[in-house]
Amino acid sequence: MTMFSELATKIEQRNARIGVVGLGYVGLPLAAHAGKRGFQVIGLDTSPGKVETINRGESDVDDVPSEVIAHLRESGHFEATTDVRRLRACDVVIICVPTPLNKTRDPDMSYVERAADDIARTLRTAQLIVLESTTWPGTTEEIILPRLEATGLKVGEDFFLAFSPERIDPGQTSSKGYTVDNVPKVVGGVTPACVEIASAFYSHITSQVVPVSSPRVAELTKLFENVFRNVNIALVNELALLCDRMGISVWEVIDAAATKPFGFMKFAPGPGWGGHCIPIDPFYLTWKAHEFGFNTRFTELAGEINVQMPRHVRELTIRALNQHSKALRGSHVLLLGVAYKPNVADYREAPVFKIMELLEEDGARITSVDPHVAEFQAHDGQTYVTTPLSDDLLQSADCAIIVTNHDGFDYQHIVANSQAIVDTRNATRDVREGREKIISL
Ligand SMILES: NC(=O)c1ccc[n+]([C@@H]2O[C@H](COP(=O)([O-])OP(=O)(O)OC[C@H]3O[C@@H](n4cnc5c(N)ncnc54)[C@H](O)[C@@H]3O)[C@@H](O)[C@H]2O)c1
Repeated sequence: MTMFSELATKIEQRNARIGVVGLGYVGLPLAAHAGKRGFQVIGLDTSPGKVETINRGESDVDDVPSEVIAHLRESGHFEATTDVRRLRACDVVIICVPTPLNKTRDPDMSYVERAADDIARTLRTAQLIVLESTTWPGTTEEIILPRLEATGLKVGEDFFLAFSPERIDPGQTSSKGYTVDNVPKVVGGVTPACVEIASAFYSHITSQVVPVSSPRVAELTKLFENVFRNVNIALVNELALLCDRMGISVWEVIDAAATKPFGFMKFAPGPGWGGHCIPIDPFYLTWKAHEFGFNTRFTELAGEINVQMPRHVRELTIRALNQHSKALRGSHVLLLGVAYKPNVADYREAPVFKIMELLEEDGARITSVDPHVAEFQAHDGQTYVTTPLSDDLLQSADCAIIVTNHDGFDYQHIVANSQAIVDTRNATRDVREGREKIISL
């Protein structure tokens, strides 16, 4: 029996043991989903606290209910560990570790490198290794492959290697109905056998697998998807800045344009980009493009526009206070929402940090409110605590800024009880009373 057929049979019978390296926003939903499909899953994470939480049957990721983890723990389908040696027992190993930027805003590949080194130490025949972390085109073949082949095992014969990008939309899975099983999965293998076996595995996890000719194509596909969002967000943010000067509601323009049934896709302006993907992934492409003597100008221009938005929010706040003959200095400003998008607790790279910095620079006193976030940490390690929303708080603040349009906020009530409001998300679109208090982006 070849290594290929040995592994293919295990996958076909769902006897394959799955190892997921990195149990965060991407890894935990994937591990839970594989467990629900009947695979035995071992989750590896460097954080002992996370491993303990999961093994207690609890989840710390919005889209994975604790009941699901508890059920998988009881049925024996899922176990978390910090012990990398356990990877040797896994037939399929999926890497879901972070790919952030370093201090000079270049790709920080240290997490991927460490995961690849751990996997190389435990590599054996008939294993499939898949990288899911978002990264520059070439990572799988330039960073992972040499480490694995240094063991003496041969890719495509002894073991198999592929890249398959994650496409989850954290916090939106239940509202929009997109889950791991109904979003098509792009797969690129280092050899034809690699793409075939990886596609066979993912066909047990998701309803549609899209094989492509190489890992580089799959890696670039993911970056292109995120750059596409980045550029379109910048375009609509630029339109918002122009509309502000022209005295036209950008929201009305977007809604009207969105009635065109073809050739238009709706994007919303906002207080600035946020999250782990849109502000970071374009730099991965830009960095790699430089190796080819190429400047990704659209991507860089989009970044320039998107980073301006918190400054525009400050301008709108000054305008809102001015209507009440107040200055920013000494004013009490309420930030409604810390998370970078609605209905999640994720505040990574959220625009709230820059907005806070700018308002504080001008002497404002800030209180932040977020029903999903109890406390949050800035890059410099400073921890901020959020305050529960109350009528007293709304009434005492000189201005409230809607930074995140969480569904849990009662916008009618917020408008009724606030002195002045800056709405950066058009969250108050249906509020009829008190509109004179609102300044919209
Ligand atoms: N969050 C998203 O919406 C999203 C969507 C698509 C793709 N991605 C990509 O997926 C990757 C993971 O992102 P995430 O949001 O899940 O990150 P995360 O920070 O939520 O989780 C990563 C986990 O990996 C663990 N970890 C780090 N190094 C490790 C190692 N060597 N071995 C084992 N565990 C390790 C960390 O402790 C953490 O629990 C990134 O490349 C990201 O760009 C994220």
